[in-house]
Amino acid sequence: MPIHGLAPSTRPVYPPHFHIEAVIRPNILDLHPYRCARDDYQSGILLDANENALGPSIPSSLLDREDGYLDLHRYPDPAQSAIKTRIANLRKLPGSEYIFLGVGSDEVLDLLMRVCCTPGKDKVLITPPTYGMYSVCGQVNDVALVKVPLVVEAGAFQLDLPKMKRALESDPLIKMVFLCSPGNPTGTLIPISDIKEVLELPSFHGIVVVDEAYVDFAGDGTSACALVEKYANLCVMQTLSKSFGLAGIRLGIALAQPPLIQVLSNTKAPYNISAPSARLALSALSEEALALMRQKVATLIASRARLLEDLKELQSLSLAPAIGGNHANFLLVPVLNPTTGKPDSPRAQKIYSRMAEKEGVVIRYRGNEYGCEGCLRITVGSEEENNALIERLRFTMTSI
Ligand SMILES: Cc1ncc(COP(=O)(O)O)c(C=O)c1O
Repeated sequence: MPIHGLAPSTRPVYPPHFHIEAVIRPNILDLHPYRCARDDYQSGILLDANENALGPSIPSSLLDREDGYLDLHRYPDPAQSAIKTRIANLRKLPGSEYIFLGVGSDEVLDLLMRVCCTPGKDKVLITPPTYGMYSVCGQVNDVALVKVPLVVEAGAFQLDLPKMKRALESDPLIKMVFLCSPGNPTGTLIPISDIKEVLELPSFHGIVVVDEAYVDFAGDGTSACALVEKYANLCVMQTLSKSFGLAGIRLGIALAQPPLIQVLSNTKAPYNISAPSARLALSALSEEALALMRQKVATLIASRARLLEDLKELQSLSLAPAIGGNHANFLLVPVLNPTTGKPDSPRAQKIYSRMAEKEGVVIRYRGNEYGCEGCLRITVGSEEENNALIERLRFTMTSI
C-alpha cells in the first residue's frame, strides 16, 4: 500500500530488506494527509479557516512591555498554573485543577481519545456534519466511529436524541460522544438541555465532550462550562484560536472535573506548551486583553449580521439564504442550480476555485459534508474583507 501524500520516487531503498509499509500500523498507513483550503491557497483574503479577522486580542501596550527576559534556554513551566487560574476565573470554575492545556484543541482531542479508548476495541460517537478532526483522530488511534447524523432538515442541525439514545444503549463499546457547539460547519448551538439529556443517560457510561471552539461568538449563557461542576462525565474543549485571535500560538483547553484533568496531565508530554505561547496566552487572559477580546467579538458579531444581509442581495444569482443558527464567526451558504433551484455542489466547487484563483478570496467548499449539499463556508472577515467578498462573489456568480 502506498504512503498517501508521498511523491513517487525511484530512489532505491537501502537496506533492501527494509519495507516501511510492513512496519507502520495498517490504520496509520491508511491515513490521507489532512487537507484544508490553505494547502492550496495561502494568500489573498483568507476567509477559509474561521480565524479571527481582527487579529490577536493582546493590546500592543502589553506586547511591547515584555516584562523581563524570556528564558528560552530553560524548559517551560510544565504546569502553567497561572494561565489555568486565569481560565478558571474567566469560565467561572473553582480553580486550576479544572483546566488542562494542550497544543491546540487538536492535541486535547487526541489525548482524550487515547486516555479513554482502547485501540481496535472501543468506539466514539460523532454527529455529522461535524469537525473533521474527530474522524482523523479516530483513525489515528484505531477507534471506530459510530455516526448519528444531526437532524439537517431546513438547516436545523440539531441532535437526533432518540437515535443517539438507541445507539448508546445498544453499543456499550462507545466510550465518548463528541458534540460540537456551535458546530463546525453548521454554526449552530446545541441547547444546554439536549447536552444534559446525553449526560444523564443511564445507559451511557462514557464521557461527553463538548467542543466549544466558537462559543464566545454565541453570546452569554450558551456554554456547557456551567455544567462542569455538576457532571463528572463532561469535558468541555475550548481554544484561544478563534475569539482570542491566537491560532498561531496553538493553545487548546479542556475544562472538566479534577479526576479527568489529572489523567490528561499524567499522559501529556511534560513541556507541551512552549514558553513563547505561554507568555502570549497569559497576556491574552489579562483583564485588559479580555476587554479587547470582547470588543473584537462584538465587532465580528455585528459584521456577521451585516454579511448575512449583504449575502441576501446575491439570492437573485442563485445563492440561498445562510443555513444553520449563525452562532459562530462563519456562515454556511448553499449555492443553487439556476435552472432547478436545488443545491448544486459542482457549481459551489467551481465558485470556490474561481474565487481563490481569480479573485484572491479563499473560502471553504463544504458541499461534500452530510446535509451541506452545495454549501460554501465563509469566515466573517473585517469590514473591508466582507465588502470585497460580496463584490467578488457577485462577479463570480454572474459567470458560473
Ligand atoms: C470545532 C473546532 N474545534 C477545534 C478546532 C481546532 O482548534 P485549535 O486551533 O485549538 O486546534 C477547530 C478549528 O477550526 C474547530 O473548528
